[in-house]
Formats: sequence, C-alpha cells, structure tokens
Amino acid sequence: MRNLIDILDLSVEEIDELIKVAKSIMKSPLDYSKVCNHKKLATLFFEPSTRTRLSFESAMIELGGSVIGFSSANSSSTAKGESVADTVRTVGCYSDIIAMRHPKDGAALVASEKSPIPIINAGDGGHHHPTQTLTDLLTISAEKERLDNLTIGMCGDLKFGRTVHSLIAAMSRYKNNKFILISPEGLKIPEYIKKDILEKNNIEYIETADIEEYMDKLDIIYMTRVQRERFDSEDEYNKVKDCYVLKNKTLEKSKKDLCIMHPLPRVNEISVEVDEDPRAAYFRQVKYGKYIRMALIMKLLEEKDTIINKTKTNEEIVSDLKCKNPRCITSIEQELPNIYVYTNKVYRCKYCETINELLT
Ligand code: CP
Repeated sequence: MRNLIDILDLSVEEIDELIKVAKSIMKSPLDYSKVCNHKKLATLFFEPSTRTRLSFESAMIELGGSVIGFSSANSSSTAKGESVADTVRTVGCYSDIIAMRHPKDGAALVASEKSPIPIINAGDGGHHHPTQTLTDLLTISAEKERLDNLTIGMCGDLKFGRTVHSLIAAMSRYKNNKFILISPEGLKIPEYIKKDILEKNNIEYIETADIEEYMDKLDIIYMTRVQRERFDSEDEYNKVKDCYVLKNKTLEKSKKDLCIMHPLPRVNEISVEVDEDPRAAYFRQVKYGKYIRMALIMKLLEEKDTIINKTKTNEEIVSDLKCKNPRCITSIEQELPNIYVYTNKVYRCKYCETINELLT
C-alpha cells in the first residue's frame, strides 16, 4: 500500500506525473468530478490548520467523494489518551484514505505502520509536510514553467520550517537549482539538511542573514513564518519573531519575473502592500494546493492494493536509549520501541530522524 510520509517517498517521475494530472484537473475539473464516488477521506487534524485540511476536504468533494474527520485533538479520543496507532486503526474501519496532521515529529510514520488504509502526512511537527511541497512544486512549475535552473531564496525560520526542509529536498533533485538561505543565527537550516542533501548532491548554497543581499539574483523568494508553537520559551520566540518583513522596498532590486511564495499562514513576514504585486503568488499557491491534492488522492487510492517491497538498505537497531528530541512522537507514546536507523555513519531515530550520538 502506498502512503505519503516524506516527499522523497515519491520519485521525480511520479512528482512530474502528479503535476501533469493536477494541471489537467485545473483545465477540465468536470472530467474528474466522479473519480472518487463512494470513497471517503478522513482528515485527522491533531494540530490547527486552515489550508491543508480544507484543501484536502474540498479536493475529495470535487472528486465526488465525501469527508469525515476532526479538526482538533481535543474533539477526538486522543484527549482520553488514545494512541495514534489505535486512532488510525479505528478510522481505517470507516474510510478509504487518511490525511493526518500531528504536532509530534514522526507521528505520520507511526500511523502508516498500523493503518489499514493509505496515510497522507499533512504535517508532522517540524519534520515533514510533503503535500505542501507538492503544492510548492506545482506553483513553481505553473508560475516559472520549469523546476530546474532556478535560484531560490528561502527566508525566515529555516530551522523548524518543515516546508523549507521538504522543498529543499525536492528541488535538489532537479538540475542546477541553487539556494540562498536567509535566516537569523538562531533559525539557521539544520546541519543534516546541508550535509545529507545539499553537500551530498553538490548543490550550491549560500547562508546569509541579509534579505536584500542577493535579492537581484533570485527567481523565487520563499518566505516563512517564525512558528511560535515550535519554541520551548516565549523569550526565545520574541528574540526572532520580527526578523524579516518583506516590503515593496525590499523588492526594489528584484527580478521582474520573481515569484513570491509563502506556504501561509503569514503573521507579518510579508507586508500586505506586497499582495498587490502581480509577482505575489501566495494566494494562487493556495489554489494549486487543492489541485495537487486531488491528483494525490487519486494516485494513492489507485495504488491502494499495490504491494510495496521496500528494500532494506539501512541497519535498524532497537535500543534502551530514548530519543532525545522532545518533539518526537516517542516522547508521548511510551509504548513505541526506540528504533534507530544507521545511515550516513550515524544512528537516527526511525521516527523523527534525530541523531543519537551515544549510539554512533
Ligand atoms: N500551509 C499550511 O500548512 O497551512 P495550514 O497550517 O493552514 O494548513
């Protein structure tokens, strides 16, 4: 059975095909209006969302299917202590496919291991958000008419920004893309993204704290919100929360065909004056999100009965050591085993991918 947990679960060819199907739906939506007749999508949102949940729901409705679900952990039996595994086993009895968002890193992987129906990761903590990445890829493909030979500025919270991590991983698979990584010291891109993705694939990148320094070189500026919910203390959040505000003045030296993106929601990192700029693509990006999710739901339902033989290339060990990441799903689901995967000469938690130095 196919799930989508990480954008790298999809090959480049599969992503290109999803983009092609999404564009076809955009052109002729009525041709797809009965594809999911009698199918049900469950949206299990343990964390707030506007775009992801509602775009999944409208995607399924526009495909002729129906939707069940919840929009907060408090309105489900999670509030009584039910585990993610038991929740998805239960929901699997009522529906055909699940889109799930959870505040803990690795929760979607846990769900996929126990679910009888396909799981789509709609965001797991600060870890992955693959359907936002598919949305971003369709946006770039539609607005720039290519996915290669682009200089992409990523600005703001590059440390906890799951959309940033997934987009870098995805765009690194297309030829000759370069990254300008713009963040304050405390929100820099994690080392493993630099080592395991950028450096490993010889991708050019520059780190800077100055949003204007390379503005004239950018084909895309991808702004992100500093996420209050990922900080351990309000003080730490307050130090960086207003680090960048994109204004018309910031864009003075930018290219005429710059594409301005943001996964949204925004707080104040793009001034509303920029909304009038035709290069501001972030509300068009929202719409692309519905079409690519329609294409994804169709693909995963079509491949529901496909048997995936994942070739195991990495060594896995079960240990007494708990994962040190307080945001890992293992921190709240005590019965999950502590499993570490040996990859690139280090042991990483199977669920959240945090390195455990004591094992390495
Ligand atoms: N981009 C995104 O994930 O938005 P929501 O949090 O509103 O779903």
